[in-house]
Amino acid sequence: MPGNGLILAIESSCDETAAAVVQRGSRTLSSVVASQIATHARYGGVVPELASREHLRAIVPVVRAALVQANITLADLDAVAVTSGPGLAGALLVGIIYAKALAYAQNIPLIAVNHLEGHIHAVLLNERGATGEANGSNLDDEPALALVVSGGHTHLYLARPTHGTWHYTLVGRTVDDAAGEAYDKVAKLLGLGYPGGPWIDALALHGNPHAIPFAFSQIKTKLHLGGKPPRTKAAKTAPIAALDPHFLFSFSGIKTAVLRYVELHNLRPEAEARREALFTGPDAPASPTIEAALATCDPQTLDLIASFQCAVVGDLLKKTFAAQQSVGPARILVTGGVAANRELRARFTAEAERRHLPIAFPTLALSTDNAAMIAAAAWPRFQAGHFAPADLSADPSLALGY
Ligand code: KG4
Ligand code: ZN
Repeated sequence: MPGNGLILAIESSCDETAAAVVQRGSRTLSSVVASQIATHARYGGVVPELASREHLRAIVPVVRAALVQANITLADLDAVAVTSGPGLAGALLVGIIYAKALAYAQNIPLIAVNHLEGHIHAVLLNERGATGEANGSNLDDEPALALVVSGGHTHLYLARPTHGTWHYTLVGRTVDDAAGEAYDKVAKLLGLGYPGGPWIDALALHGNPHAIPFAFSQIKTKLHLGGKPPRTKAAKTAPIAALDPHFLFSFSGIKTAVLRYVELHNLRPEAEARREALFTGPDAPASPTIEAALATCDPQTLDLIASFQCAVVGDLLKKTFAAQQSVGPARILVTGGVAANRELRARFTAEAERRHLPIAFPTLALSTDNAAMIAAAAWPRFQAGHFAPADLSADPSLALGY
């Protein structure tokens, strides 16, 4: 049934191999995600070589499962969409090459999608799904201030639709680590699992968030750059000097502050014992639970976890709402893996209510990496005839909206 607006999307930018079929950017017929968490967990982070190998293994069965669950065949598709960046080069290439081959074999267009745009469209997909409309509801006519907060990114965008096509202006971003990266590093330091976000999210409920007053100082752009291009991995992907310093984030400082606290209070032996009991030791359970982790944490560690999260969420909240006020769109979208966080959702929702601003998050499944969001972002491009060139390649530092 070509002509029905069926897009198959493939996402392989980091540690999830994902495929989805979405109709007209609004109706999700299938969304399959094969996670590599088990592969990377023992290293406490993503190992790029292992990620590529796992994508190679998973890509064919994942795409097949997405087609089967959608109850369609390749012949029914109108286009294939794929994440072309940013992400790990080798990981991206697996998806791109497979998507290219499928599009070529079916003689249908290939659409390249920026992963960050995908995260923004995860929220729009939810909203369109809820109203059952694509481009019909006025959601697609409304600009938004979008916070994309994940393991690789902490970016603020002004997202504006004009005649169904979205335009993005970068408003703020991290100058060093992403918020999710800080979660992952702090979790690793405390002997918790990978990815760290869900562990810290759950354990923070049991600590006092005001026990340790972690603070974020104002970032001074010129001071930070020192007149030279930034050297950090995150900073290379988009310009910082041109942005308002009030909307810049920095999460490497709090990571170091947590490290200092751990050293000062001699919490390292406890963290090592926790890692062994939960993950690496001979008696470690196959899938450790939050309850098991909680049993290994004393009140001081729980206070540290709660205080870390409270500070990170507070900083994200303060700068996001300041940017909204300064840039002016009448609503806020929060998306990316860290948007799954309970404290973040609760505090952002309360602040938006206080300011009488609409705010939207994706469902939990659409917060972390998936391919349905890539298919949703591809839909306006499909309608506008913005197709990828035959020589499309991976762009690990692809930027969105200068
Ligand atoms: O969007 P995502 O799946 O991948 C990237 O594009 O990076 O985000 C993964 C990140 C990881 O850093 C993970 O620790 C974080 O999202 N994360 C969370 C939660 N769930 C995932 N952070 C805080 N709270 C959570 N509940
Ligand atoms: Zn992501």
